[in-house]
Amino acid sequence: MEKYIIKGGTPLMGEVEIGGAKNSALALLAATIMTDDSVVIDNLPDVRDINVLIDAIEGIGATVKRNDRHSVCISGRTIRSFCADNEYIKKIRASYYLLGALLGKFKKAEVTLPGGCNIGSRPIDQHIKGFEALGATVVIEHGMIKVKADRLVGSHIFFDAVSVGATINVMLAAALAEGNTVIENAAKEPHIVDVANLLNKMGANIRGAGTDIIRIKGVERLHGTEYSVIPDQIEAGTFMFAAAITNGDILVKNVIPKHLEILSAKLIEVGCKIEEYDEAIRVIATDVKKSTKVKTLPYPGFPTDMQPQMTVILSMAQGTSTVIETIFENRFMYVDELTKMGAKITVEGNVAVIEGVDKLTGASLNAHDLRAGAALVLAGLAAEGFTTVEDIHFIQRGYEAFEEKLSKLGGKIEKVDSEKEEQKFKLRVS
Ligand code: EPZ
Repeated sequence: MEKYIIKGGTPLMGEVEIGGAKNSALALLAATIMTDDSVVIDNLPDVRDINVLIDAIEGIGATVKRNDRHSVCISGRTIRSFCADNEYIKKIRASYYLLGALLGKFKKAEVTLPGGCNIGSRPIDQHIKGFEALGATVVIEHGMIKVKADRLVGSHIFFDAVSVGATINVMLAAALAEGNTVIENAAKEPHIVDVANLLNKMGANIRGAGTDIIRIKGVERLHGTEYSVIPDQIEAGTFMFAAAITNGDILVKNVIPKHLEILSAKLIEVGCKIEEYDEAIRVIATDVKKSTKVKTLPYPGFPTDMQPQMTVILSMAQGTSTVIETIFENRFMYVDELTKMGAKITVEGNVAVIEGVDKLTGASLNAHDLRAGAALVLAGLAAEGFTTVEDIHFIQRGYEAFEEKLSKLGGKIEKVDSEKEEQKFKLRVS
């Protein structure tokens, strides 16, 4: 089984290009099937989840033409099946965006129910609340969620939880409903705005995306267009934090600094220097990191997808820090892995208390989920000695060319598939 082998201790220095936002691209791809015309999506990240969703969309009969690794042309004209339960659908949670897209265009959809995952139960009750408010009936049976409506009619929807997925899914369905829809307590992440911008380019009428009230005037049909995915806020943040963790100096290019403001603020709080440019951010780390407090919140608060990376910074800060996870109920599983490296962290419920240590030491680690896996790699790049990270398929779901980008910054990391390859790496870097 492939794993990463890492030799720590080299500060990461240089420039890194950020790719398109995975969590935006997944929703944008679902939106493309809502028209019979062709829609081109550019700046796609070449990562597993994106490629699986494109295969799933082709699997329900859409016409898909890959322009290159980062660009695809899709048309919903040839869709005949509204039942999405092919082998690809089951592999990713974001296939639930096909519910909103198919319901909006065809007034019916059946999608394999996404399960929970390592970070929490991941309910979809708010998605269902939104669909029912628009006039759909929702039935869950045999592991499928089935939605259908004679007519979709605009409604005033109050979400009980701020949900990225539910906000996007209801926006997709409401775009082609009759009349006006208002979504209150909407999520405000940059990718919500990205999806609204694509839908509006396709002829929808959506206002207020990015605020907590989104107003949608349903239209008859949507038409083709070309659209480019925004830069990935979490990939950018991961490389910004990599500079802090390894005491390096990294220019993170092709970003939207506004989307990263909370991350820059936290890096300044722990003692890093930030230089902000139009489409880039430079992070210059200092040797000594100060402790701080972090609480994950919906955007523009501190993103839960950066929580593990923040904990790694604080594990080597001076003094005691706290990290409070308010979004998912099980997002500290990676702490046991950091403990193997000498970190001193106690977790009580959704609060981690971190007593900073002078250094981490290399160990054999397991990635439990996408972001925790990335955080463990960064910890290994800072630790003394060698670290291995297993289950790297989690990381490959959301980071394109992760080890290549880290190597270009001077990181000593390689993907290996055997003991022999591991030994060769150790000889080469020693
Ligand atoms: C998206 O998940 C992202 N995934 C997650 O990123 C991210 O952590 C999360 O948003 C929060 O930003 C994708 O976009 C594919 P939510 P999503 O609905 O939409 C509760 C990564 O690493 N909730 O905003 O599933 C839920 O339990 C992944 O890239 C309900 O109660 O997240 C959670 O506590 C991990 N009922 C909170 O809302 C619902 O119907 C936020 O979940 C839906 C959600």
